[in-house]
Amino acid sequence: MGELEADTWRIADGTEQIARSRALHCRRRGDHVHRLSSGYGASCSQELIGRADELNMIWSFVGEVRAGGATLVLSGEPGMGKTVMLDAAAAASCATGLGVLRAVGAEFETNLSFSSLNQLLSPLRSEMAGLPAEYQDALRVALGFGTGPRPDQLIISNATVALFERAALMHPLLVIIDDLQWLDRVSAAVLVFAARRGVARLGFLWAIRSGRDTTIECGGLPTHVLRPISDDAAVALLESRFPILAPQVRQRLIVEAEGNPLALVELPTALSRPQLEAIEALPDTLPLSARLQALFEGRIKCLPSRTRRVLLLAALSGAGELQVLQALLGETRLLDDLAAAERDRLIFVDDVRQRVSFRHPLIRSCVVELATGGERSQAHLALARVLLNQPDRHAWHLAEASVEPDEWVAQLLDQVAHRMLSRGDVTGAVTAFTRAASLSRIPANRARRVAEAAYRGAHSGELETVSQLLAVARQADPGFTGSLRDASAAAFLILSDRGDVFTAHQLLVAAVRSHPNPCDAEDNSLIEALHTLFMICVFAGVAELWQPFHDAVSGLAPHAPADLMLRHAVCADPARVTTSALAHLDCLVADLRRETDLIKIIRTSHCARFVDRLNLCREPLWRIVRDPAASGIIKANALRDLCLDDFSAGQWEDAERLADEGIKLTGGQDPRPLISHFRYVLALLAAVRGDEDVNRALCNELTSWAAPRRALGIQRCSLHARALAAIGRGHYEDAFRLAAAVSPPGEFASHISDALFICLDLVEAAVRTNRRKEAHAHVAAMRQERIAALSPRLALLVAGSAALVAPDHVAGEHFEKALALRGTDRWPFDRARVQLAYGEHLRRNGAASGSRAHLSEALGVFQRLGARPWANRAGNELRATGQLRVNHHSPQAGALTPQEQTIAALAASGMSNKQIAERLYLSHRTVENHLHRVFPKLGITSRAGLRDALTPDRTNSTSPHVPSPKSSCRTDQ
Ligand SMILES: Nc1ncnc2c1ncn2[C@@H]1O[C@H](COP(=O)(O)OP(=O)(O)O)[C@@H](O)[C@H]1O
Ligand SMILES: [Mg+2]
Repeated sequence: MGELEADTWRIADGTEQIARSRALHCRRRGDHVHRLSSGYGASCSQELIGRADELNMIWSFVGEVRAGGATLVLSGEPGMGKTVMLDAAAAASCATGLGVLRAVGAEFETNLSFSSLNQLLSPLRSEMAGLPAEYQDALRVALGFGTGPRPDQLIISNATVALFERAALMHPLLVIIDDLQWLDRVSAAVLVFAARRGVARLGFLWAIRSGRDTTIECGGLPTHVLRPISDDAAVALLESRFPILAPQVRQRLIVEAEGNPLALVELPTALSRPQLEAIEALPDTLPLSARLQALFEGRIKCLPSRTRRVLLLAALSGAGELQVLQALLGETRLLDDLAAAERDRLIFVDDVRQRVSFRHPLIRSCVVELATGGERSQAHLALARVLLNQPDRHAWHLAEASVEPDEWVAQLLDQVAHRMLSRGDVTGAVTAFTRAASLSRIPANRARRVAEAAYRGAHSGELETVSQLLAVARQADPGFTGSLRDASAAAFLILSDRGDVFTAHQLLVAAVRSHPNPCDAEDNSLIEALHTLFMICVFAGVAELWQPFHDAVSGLAPHAPADLMLRHAVCADPARVTTSALAHLDCLVADLRRETDLIKIIRTSHCARFVDRLNLCREPLWRIVRDPAASGIIKANALRDLCLDDFSAGQWEDAERLADEGIKLTGGQDPRPLISHFRYVLALLAAVRGDEDVNRALCNELTSWAAPRRALGIQRCSLHARALAAIGRGHYEDAFRLAAAVSPPGEFASHISDALFICLDLVEAAVRTNRRKEAHAHVAAMRQERIAALSPRLALLVAGSAALVAPDHVAGEHFEKALALRGTDRWPFDRARVQLAYGEHLRRNGAASGSRAHLSEALGVFQRLGARPWANRAGNELRATGQLRVNHHSPQAGALTPQEQTIAALAASGMSNKQIAERLYLSHRTVENHLHRVFPKLGITSRAGLRDALTPDRTNSTSPHVPSPKSSCRTDQ
């Protein structure tokens, strides 16, 4: 760690870096005035007038940072004094020994990923050496200090937090960002992540222009809006700065400045002395912003032409690095050229950070606006030339320099867009594709790029933009409608919005077939179209629709990309997946730990889902969910797989939370197929918890969306959830009908991905309804397809199914084998179902005492999970073995209906049947009947045993007075 002095970072290599460019001290003067002495560039001092409250706020904010950490966003109109407030905070920090890191957003470089983070973290470069290697590498690449594969956004965010933590360990630290609205999106995302996360002894103080359309989302962070200063303060300000002002001129200026300090400071400078003294009339009024603009214009126009040219270059370069400007000007003396602007206080040269900074962003905008189109193009072109070693900046400057279409520049921007995609910046990529399209000379290329933007937009959920873009694409090239990007985006729209899967499929297949080179494995648009076609096949769930997909993938040369190949080899027919395809998938899954391409993670995990390997993808999926830069839709995809896995693993509360979160994320512009998966998980949860109404409502929703769209794949999800609920209710006839509609007994059809996971339900329902032939046929099919070899969970389901159909004299052996399988603890619900079936088998066959251990264990698991119908079944079975009291941990009340629980509780409190009947508006006879059923369920024979039988349960379930099916069985998790 470098040594910190008052306002200076000293870094280990001995170079002194003043991190904050303005060091200021404040002191009070009357009610309105606070004096600041500036320590940057040209020495200047100024008074902060009318901001006593805000300054107090700043001081206490700095105190909070020292004490533990704090965040504050200042928002306000241009000129309202945000920057000087940041200066005041920097001064207060330095005065009290806090380190300060500063960065400022640059209006003309918002498209450059990580430029602001680079600015901010450079002074901590020597600190990075102390971080774990993974973090060091990530930061090195992201900040441009080194090369390597694009680091994952979440790793960068975590690395940044770690770096801050490390620095703050030695000294409390304040991170000041000015003009946040112009920060590049990814830097902003990293910093917002850090601020939300919070770091001990670290403060974030940011300024952002109000009323601007900014993509930077800092909602939820504490914000203070800087309002105009009062008229009294305005008088004080004018008096202190312009003592010669005539009272009537001062009054007029106060009205016109509307409490904006910048206007108060700058408007008088445009007036002549006779005007200031009211000897001459003042000019006509203009709107405030135009007046300020006009004011700077006058001053800029007076500068020598060389100075204006350098200012233009500095403004357009964004960062204003002296080194870049010097490279542009060759031998001439840069500082000499800048001197006139510096003297007029339009800019200052920051010697420490080696940059030219504008005194106010309005001056920068004004410099750019005053230049002609030709001058601006020339400047961008010149900048592009010296920024050859920074490909993104190079491409953007070339794009800005191009006044007419230029295919070569369009192609460079295409590459920028792909680089952005590879680091998960989808919104940035859409901007780059759109700009590339506008620069395309060839209509087909232009249309392709617009469609690419539309396609990416569709993936990130921006469906409105997608339809507009598609219209533009068609306009650009009327013959374009058959192209792949267009068709992919349209197919996406059809699915998400109004059409049916068959139409989407038809459209896309036609586009793939009419593609000029349908075998080119390196044609990105073809590959993406095939991924979309794959999704459509999954939703459709019909065997015939898969054929064109298989044909297209098999025909690709030299060879299909790995993720597409896997979808072809694994997902279409998971029951018959080959060993080599599985081995390949396992390799890719193992590699996900290092994978930074979010789309690749989603695609691999999607394949893993088909063959029951989601549990191995959790870490990368969580990385996506936590990645502040990942789009909502990508996150929702990750959440879908995580919550499906949580459901299988018995983590039901987590599954529910993630499903809710996923629905929220996709809400508003929901691509419905994705939302359907969350509803599916919620419907499964309702089934296992015995929430019948919820299950029914969710399944209806699923069907009512899927049926008109002929999305059989989604309809099967609904059937599966219904079948499970029917088993819970003990309605095995219904269960069989529903399960068989998903997966006909005796086969594992190639296009039915749910067939694997419904196999035990189908067999159990068949056995219970005396369909032994069907049950046997299905177990035989499992064996033939070697389903058990796919995963430990499937091995358990297969072994459990085999035990259910086995003749009584060997069934025990089969059950024992199933329960002895290794690695099945991760699926407690499935395992407990097999154990319950074993217990039932033993009791039926006269081994009551042998069955108890299995039944109790199953009961405990069901109760822990909150699988009420199954807990009831296990509890009843256990009592039927003659075990009158079920174990301490099992809430017997869980075996009672809500009404029985209430009646039992009232009876236990000492009330008579008559009193209970009156209380509950029931007949005396009904109460009697209920209690009659309650006693055996609780394993007691008289009223006297009620209290004891109910008491232990109170720790395990909610009060019997308040039946709450959702929570009653989940309290001991
Ligand atoms: N309270 C104040 N008293 C005196 N001068 C001020 C005050 N607030 C702002 N200024 C001056 O007004 C100008 C604009 O302030 P600045 O902080 O750059 O505004 P913003 O960042 O909100 O656009 C600067 O010259 C600054 O010195
Ligand atoms: Mg400012």
